[in-house]
Amino acid sequence: MKDYFKAVKISDNVYWVGAIDWGLRDFHGYSTGRGSTYNAFLIMADKITLIDAVRAPFKEELLSRIASVVSPSDITYIVSNHAEMDHSGCLPDIVEEIRPEKVFASNFGVKNLASHFSIPGGVVPVKDGEKLSLGNMELTFLETRMVHWPDSMFTYLGKESMLFSNDAFGMHMATSERFADEIPTPDLERMGAEYYANILLPYSPLIIKLLNRLDGLKLPIRTIAPDHGPIWRKDTGQILGLYRKWAEQKPTRKAVVVYDTMWESTATMARSISEGLAAGNVSTKFMPLKLSHRSDVVTELLDAGALVVGSSTLHNNMLPPVADVLNYLKGLKPKNLIGAAFGSYGWSGESVGQVGDILKAMGVELVGEGIKAKFVPDESVLKECYCLGQAIAEKLG
Ligand code: FEO
Repeated sequence: MKDYFKAVKISDNVYWVGAIDWGLRDFHGYSTGRGSTYNAFLIMADKITLIDAVRAPFKEELLSRIASVVSPSDITYIVSNHAEMDHSGCLPDIVEEIRPEKVFASNFGVKNLASHFSIPGGVVPVKDGEKLSLGNMELTFLETRMVHWPDSMFTYLGKESMLFSNDAFGMHMATSERFADEIPTPDLERMGAEYYANILLPYSPLIIKLLNRLDGLKLPIRTIAPDHGPIWRKDTGQILGLYRKWAEQKPTRKAVVVYDTMWESTATMARSISEGLAAGNVSTKFMPLKLSHRSDVVTELLDAGALVVGSSTLHNNMLPPVADVLNYLKGLKPKNLIGAAFGSYGWSGESVGQVGDILKAMGVELVGEGIKAKFVPDESVLKECYCLGQAIAEKLG
């Protein structure tokens, strides 16, 4: 045990005992420039309970923080809200070491954990709405399927009005502060939006249902304790409201112009389109892919109304960075977008059609047929680009 890893008390009976991954820079394609935390929580009930665990390399940090409050072997129960390895990676080892009486997970959680590891003593399934007595306190389990895995669930601690929300309401942000109210609001909103866009966006319809369900249950929720980033102990409505806004994806007068270029022709077209958008009073995020990461593109789309994508043609194809970003966006299923394709070419010019086809497959309503420029756009093509920007502005209403 390392005695410099301390638990942080977050309420009368609950401690944060997670790990801080300052160096995390990639989360399967999502650029996590500010690292992350893997939060785990220790409930000091009659039956001492650990909520979630951490990535395998951080096992010692978890156990050391627990040991700053209580001997890990005093833990009676472990609840695994989600089988993904950032929360379960060290689970087999700590179960072996701690030997809790029981480990609990959702039905899917039991199956998914079994597909990852052999947990000594097995895992007990719990149902949606099921309660578990900890002696002087009680937990309630709420299934949250596909937010964002089939096994995901929330655990609610009534005595503290605390919702352990697993991946929901979290953010990839390593900080020395443990609470959201210690972090500037613009940072929280940006990092929360980034996380939502890159992890949860495809499940937005389910998230609206989940938020409605939480409203309907009328559970007092004083604290939201997610498994990544800061804990919401004041004004939980702030993050709940942001989630509703992000899940609804109501389009605004904002356009994201994304492109890659070989000899600046496609870039010149992008600039003309952006001028047309600006003339139509559309706020434009100009994102050359040599300078913009795919995860920033999807974050900017969260409140956008238009996606305009440009690529030169190279070897009968769109440029690789454009294929990369479109493949990523297609999987994340942004909604309520209009858009267009454009690009330069030398002799075959397939890229514009390819980009347009992917945009259509994503459900983006295309404005126009796409604009192509042979080698270098002349004044008439640049005027066409400008008019495309204006047409998108008009359609955004
Ligand atoms: Fe933070 Fe789905 O794991």
